[in-house]
Amino acid sequence: MLQRLARSPPHIALGTDKVHGASCVQYIRQGLDAGYRMIDTAQVYNNEEEIGKAVRSSGIPRNQIFITTKIASGFRKNPSTLKEALDSVQGSVRRLGLDYVDAVLIHHPGDDAANGSAALCRRTTWEALEQSKIAGYVKEIGISNFNAAHVAEMRQYAKLRPSLIQMEIHPWYQRSELVRLCRKEGLTIQAYAAITQNKHAQDTELLDMAARYNVSTAHVLLRYSLQEGHVPIVKATNLDHLLSNKRAGSFVLSEEDMLILGSKHKGIEGSIFPWLATNADG
Ligand SMILES: NC(=O)c1ccc[n+]([C@@H]2O[C@H](COP(=O)([O-])OP(=O)(O)OC[C@H]3O[C@@H](n4cnc5c(N)ncnc54)[C@H](OP(=O)(O)O)[C@@H]3O)[C@@H](O)[C@H]2O)c1
Repeated sequence: MLQRLARSPPHIALGTDKVHGASCVQYIRQGLDAGYRMIDTAQVYNNEEEIGKAVRSSGIPRNQIFITTKIASGFRKNPSTLKEALDSVQGSVRRLGLDYVDAVLIHHPGDDAANGSAALCRRTTWEALEQSKIAGYVKEIGISNFNAAHVAEMRQYAKLRPSLIQMEIHPWYQRSELVRLCRKEGLTIQAYAAITQNKHAQDTELLDMAARYNVSTAHVLLRYSLQEGHVPIVKATNLDHLLSNKRAGSFVLSEEDMLILGSKHKGIEGSIFPWLATNADG
């Protein structure tokens, strides 16, 4: 399912951070009605119940929808025991109210500098994800905000390899080394902040491209992400945004325009979420 969704573009995942209550249910229902089939949530977003409710009431066969959630035990912190981690995963499945979750990710590797047991916690949490996958209530397991060293470290302890990774990627923060490594490892990349929360909407070259393709700057950035082979995640609670973002599948950026966007990299300075970065692997 993941491979099929990731390989047959355009696939854009609906971001849900800071969307709650009835407006969350409505947003997801509108997204599903518009043809979106991937949803991104996390325990810390506090909306798994609403997302489950929207999916269950949509009438769309469960196997056509891909829901990713992410676990943590606090800010940049992971469970320290296997039981805590297993309970955490099962809590997500229960709140979603579905038989299974398509993907569960470790939201953040933890703070190695501040917490001497961060490495042990991510290893323990990974073991819980492996067991959840073997038990069948989680279909895919993965990681988020891991850097290249964290990905490499997993070779020493993972019995099951991750199949997807979520990270911030857009022209201003490209993570080339990490992207190369993830591609080599066969990981599907979900790119968050793919439209940079619109922070570059006034960039003159981006505006010029948007005018030439007769789309918006957000659509150009979504298209860039798709052409890079990522699954972009975008939050679009405004119905016009939600519907129009599908246009990212209707045009192709030229090689020259991809190169112009590719020249905007600023390393960690270009990150929208620098507090989630774990080193300058920009
Ligand atoms: N793994 C992680 O640690 C992590 C970290 C950050 C984010 N994420 C995930 O990624 C998702 C996306 O990140 P984000 O929400 O921070 O940023 P984003 O998707 O880059 O930006 C969201 C903003 O863009 C606006 N927007 C959407 N489509 C638009 C369009 N066509 N034209 C103009 N504006 C448009 C939205 O407005 P409206 O809502 O008003 O439409 C919203 O204000 C999150 O919701 C979350 O699911 C994951």
